[in-house]
Amino acid sequence: MAVQTVSNSTDISLGPAVALSCRECGERTPLGPSFACVACFGPLEIAYELPSGDPAGLRKRIESGPNSIWRYAPLLPVPEDVASKPNLNPGLTKLVKADNLARELGITGSLHIKDDSGNPTHSFKDRVVAIAVEAARAFGFTTLSCSSTGNLAGAVGAAAARAGLRSCVFIPHDLEQGKVVMAAVYGGDLVGIEGTYDDVNRFCSELIGDPIGEGWGFVNVNLRPYYAEGSKTLAYEICEQLGWRLPDQIVIPIASGSQLTKIDKGLKELIALGLVEDKPYKIFGAQAEGCSPVSRAFKDGHDVVRPVRPDTIAKSLAIGNPADGPYVLDIARRTGGAVEDVNDEQVVDAIKLLARTEGIFAETAGGVTVGVTRKLIESGVLDPALTTVVLNTGDGLKTLDAVAPTTRPSAVIRPSLDAFREAGLG
Ligand SMILES: Cc1ncc(COP(=O)(O)O)c(C=O)c1O
Ligand SMILES: [Zn+2]
Repeated sequence: MAVQTVSNSTDISLGPAVALSCRECGERTPLGPSFACVACFGPLEIAYELPSGDPAGLRKRIESGPNSIWRYAPLLPVPEDVASKPNLNPGLTKLVKADNLARELGITGSLHIKDDSGNPTHSFKDRVVAIAVEAARAFGFTTLSCSSTGNLAGAVGAAAARAGLRSCVFIPHDLEQGKVVMAAVYGGDLVGIEGTYDDVNRFCSELIGDPIGEGWGFVNVNLRPYYAEGSKTLAYEICEQLGWRLPDQIVIPIASGSQLTKIDKGLKELIALGLVEDKPYKIFGAQAEGCSPVSRAFKDGHDVVRPVRPDTIAKSLAIGNPADGPYVLDIARRTGGAVEDVNDEQVVDAIKLLARTEGIFAETAGGVTVGVTRKLIESGVLDPALTTVVLNTGDGLKTLDAVAPTTRPSAVIRPSLDAFREAGLG
């Protein structure tokens, strides 16, 4: 395998991050661009020494911090001066109280949409990439790369441009036009691969092992432990925006499952640090029926997630072999949640429902979470009387193709009042 690090890993200082630890056997290794445990080949994640003993002081420090994810820098693997560096400053997106949607769904408690379409490149991926860029800088990488279902490619292109790094990103060749344009416009290299996301990912693993990949930081492969931590900021923001309270239920879309597992990690950290009061919460995962390996395993009571070949309009969630699938199953079962799926027609209906009730235009992934929320309420699995947060992780303008066939103007008329009346709209 090619040498991946340019800096000496013992010099690396990433705030409260102290080591990489194996999610399977707990073996620890020094911080560096590694992603698999040398003892058991399990996935690695960041281990921290988090600031403890003064929750009120920490809360105040966070509240007076920047209006971006950097307010949570004391809990992230980033240097203390992160906010002063050139980056896209994602985060602090709106938590929208969705009373109209709640009424339509029969929710009697409170319903909130965490709307991450408001990030710089219009998806939650800006959060994870922002952290990966800091790791890339620390390890001396000069090229930022990724395998992507679309949103990540755009986020990497934009973040690399801002950070002054080269980017080279890889996507399945047949993605939505909005995703392709957003991935290409920032001026890096964009490579369409003839195959599914899983083929793209396999190709990237080969590239990392080749001398070509020397000096390359693949945000979701050799930088994955750092990248993944960015999703914790969703947990922090949701709780802060609820007045430092845990929600009762959260509905989260699943592709690799990383976002879901890291939101759970973030919630547990807030409890351990005394920033929120400890109480039970339930985590629900949402998939599209045409790519639902985790939902299938959940419903069948299996611990093994069997890979599938995706076929769905929700292309951002089309990962047939999700790396974090088994961890998602654990979390859904441990918290008393569930994993459910909806078909493509239900995804489009849910996109329109959210737009019509709350004025939020979600991408297909948001249609999946709203559709699954509706299904879980109808089946009595989600409690309508509790505080529920549903994630919209991307902007509908990127996936116009999905809703275009079912939307059109109410009428096309001559510019006259008579014509307006004749069209039955006056
Ligand atoms: C809009 C959107 N939502 C959710 C996800 C799921 O993320 P994860 O792979 O962390 O499960 C993705 C992944 O690409 C995405 O693009
Ligand atoms: Zn291990």
